[in-house]
Amino acid sequence: MKIGIIGSGNIGGNLGKHWSKAGHKVLFSSRHPNELKSLVKEAGENAEAVSVTEAFEANADVYLLAMPFKAIDKISELYAGEYGGKIIIDATNPYPERDGEMAQKVRDANYNASEYTAMKFATAKTVKAFNTIHAEHLKDRAFSTIDKLAIPFAAQDQESRAVGKQLIEDMGFDALYVGNLSDTNIMDPDQAIYGKSLDRSTLQALVNTTRVH
Ligand SMILES: NC(=O)c1ccc[n+]([C@@H]2O[C@H](COP(=O)([O-])OP(=O)(O)OC[C@H]3O[C@@H](n4cnc5c(N)ncnc54)[C@H](OP(=O)(O)O)[C@@H]3O)[C@@H](O)[C@H]2O)c1
Repeated sequence: MKIGIIGSGNIGGNLGKHWSKAGHKVLFSSRHPNELKSLVKEAGENAEAVSVTEAFEANADVYLLAMPFKAIDKISELYAGEYGGKIIIDATNPYPERDGEMAQKVRDANYNASEYTAMKFATAKTVKAFNTIHAEHLKDRAFSTIDKLAIPFAAQDQESRAVGKQLIEDMGFDALYVGNLSDTNIMDPDQAIYGKSLDRSTLQALVNTTRVH
């Protein structure tokens, strides 16, 4: 698959390296793409650095959102002509201290952060994934054969669910489907499975317990 990485920092940088290693074509994007040279070198021959505009114009199959939450509004507006029908994997989290008032509004709203993203990127299919894991674990625990971690994810439809699952498993994590986007409240900051690095069965048990109560 061709994957456009929007925000090539702790999360986007590591996910892109893992997908590149798994054989996907990776477009790391930044507002300063020439600062990504060492990342591209580390990621190998499947990766290149581009501007955010070039990433959206490259007709990728999947776009990973791994920039500050506050950038969702502008990016969804600017590139509305490009991402229609594509899959958006949303790894962002709203943090008012970093993202300002719009993040507080989403925290206080009666919808989940993933539903906000899906509203903004309305013509794409949204998958919520990788927002609950610490960047260090994402970096160090991929491609493990023992003590595999499970990545919880949610998706808007069958196609995006299948792609989300595949892209999690391609980097050696287990994928745990938690439901559709209305079920992602447990994945949001400070909620039940946020920041939890667990194996599949322990994570599944925690999800089940959370839903019973
Ligand atoms: N760190 C974690 O443990 C963790 C875990 C799970 C989820 N998350 C979430 O994942 C997202 C990224 O976190 P991170 O820790 O990877 O952050 P980061 O290391 O700061 O990387 C974010 C990247 O986004 C780019 N960016 C910043 N503002 C932008 C804008 N307005 N438009 C486009 N690109 C912009 C920056 O690149 P340029 O300045 O080069 O453009 C930056 O390298 C956040 O929403 C965060 O809450 C973080």
